Amino acid sequence: MANTVLITGASQGTGKATALLFARHGYDVILAARQPERLEQVAAAVRAEGRQALAVPTDTSDVQRVEMLIQTALDRFGRVDVLVNNAGFYLSGLMQYTPLDDWHRVMDTNFWGYVHTIQGLLPQFLARGSGSIVNVISFGGATPVPEMIAFCASKYAVTGLTDTLRLELAPKGIQVCAVHPGVINSNFLERAIFRGQDAAQVEERRKQLQALVQAPWVSRPEDIADAIWSAVRSGKSEVIVGQPLTATKALQVAV
Ligand SMILES: NC(=O)c1ccc[n+]([C@@H]2O[C@H](COP(=O)([O-])OP(=O)(O)OC[C@H]3O[C@@H](n4cnc5c(N)ncnc54)[C@H](OP(=O)(O)O)[C@@H]3O)[C@@H](O)[C@H]2O)c1
Repeated sequence: MANTVLITGASQGTGKATALLFARHGYDVILAARQPERLEQVAAAVRAEGRQALAVPTDTSDVQRVEMLIQTALDRFGRVDVLVNNAGFYLSGLMQYTPLDDWHRVMDTNFWGYVHTIQGLLPQFLARGSGSIVNVISFGGATPVPEMIAFCASKYAVTGLTDTLRLELAPKGIQVCAVHPGVINSNFLERAIFRGQDAAQVEERRKQLQALVQAPWVSRPEDIADAIWSAVRSGKSEVIVGQPLTATKALQVAV
């Protein structure tokens, strides 16, 4: 029986690249994200690699949808060997311009979404005494960046979750790995939220980010996928991908 990987945020960017890479390495893949058509396209690409794919449209911020995702995955494959928590979005804004609703939204997906999948899969990982949990975090989960306060808080929360979970699960034979990308030239700006003093400031920040993702030092989704694969294969605890320091400096310029 093939190994299986469950990937959240699998419809594009890092999640899609990770799905294809694991498929090439012989894994069957469970794909989760909200938009079904995009998810099905990735599922078709996984099948074209000769592996099985199960696309389950899921909003990871909704615990009941995540429970259904996990039940569907276990019904189909019997087990999940690797969980890649990756679904997240970017939120830009100083504290005074970031409304509470935004704080809840970013925590619901970037933090609680990760807790939901871990809680759901942990019983079968513990029963088997094996498995890997990879949390895709950010340089913003290890370094404070002004004007990214809610995003950083959500990612720091995942860093705390990941580092503590690793200590709890290492004695049980379960790997827990933090992957910290710098900037990735995915289409993340599609769903990014920008807040500021006025429309002009918001537009300026958006343009700054649009320019930044074109920079030559920025990572590709495939680079993050490679890092995730090598982390799982070698049992790593933490991986830093790309140039987080350059990313931090570049984003601080405008503040
Ligand atoms: N891009 C960067 O520069 C960068 C830098 C550091 C860290 N990261 C982190 O790396 C991860 C991947 O980033 P990326 O750039 O590859 O992202 P991306 O291209 O924007 O893709 C995000 C994926 O997450 C899904 N998603 C978003 N909210 C979701 C929700 N509530 N439930 C389920 N799926 C959801 C999206 O699909 P749907 O919209 O269809 O749900 C999509 O498949 C994220 O955690 C991000 O925060 C990114």
